[in-house]
Amino acid sequence: MAVLPICRFPDNPVLKQKAKRVPGIDGSIQKLIDDMIETMRQANGVGLAAPQVGVSLRVIVVQMPGEEPIAIINPEIVKRTGEQEVTEGCLSVPGHYGEIKRAAEVVVKGKDRRGKAIRIKATGLMAEALEHEIDHLNGTLYIDHVESPEKLHKVEHPMTETKDAMPRLET
Ligand code: NI
Repeated sequence: MAVLPICRFPDNPVLKQKAKRVPGIDGSIQKLIDDMIETMRQANGVGLAAPQVGVSLRVIVVQMPGEEPIAIINPEIVKRTGEQEVTEGCLSVPGHYGEIKRAAEVVVKGKDRRGKAIRIKATGLMAEALEHEIDHLNGTLYIDHVESPEKLHKVEHPMTETKDAMPRLET
């Protein structure tokens, strides 16, 4: 497994592109998933999408605190329910976080790393992470959902912040 460099907005145009569907799951996709998981962990993120490591393919990984990582190939949101207000960051938009609205519950279908069809119903942070990562596959960043400049904040003291002091999503 390898830690890959994370693409940053606005330097890398791959972040604004619509990623391609994965046509077949082979060794290169397995390696991509392993490298994405390693990269996400090293960055202390809870999710990562393939375009963030410069690969314009529909692959995401998410890992909730204390749980095993999940990879989803060609993920699709088939249902969104309700609304939650969240404070969100992105590894591709370092130094900022924003207040946005997400669905309270989502149902996502896709394939797992072995090619088996999966369907995941998620709420809270997991629902937020899934929407955030699937947005990445469509070239959408959380900053596109921030409704006004007052809702986008700079991280003032990044060296003194910890995940515990200010829990928020970095994906
Ligand atoms: Ni992100």
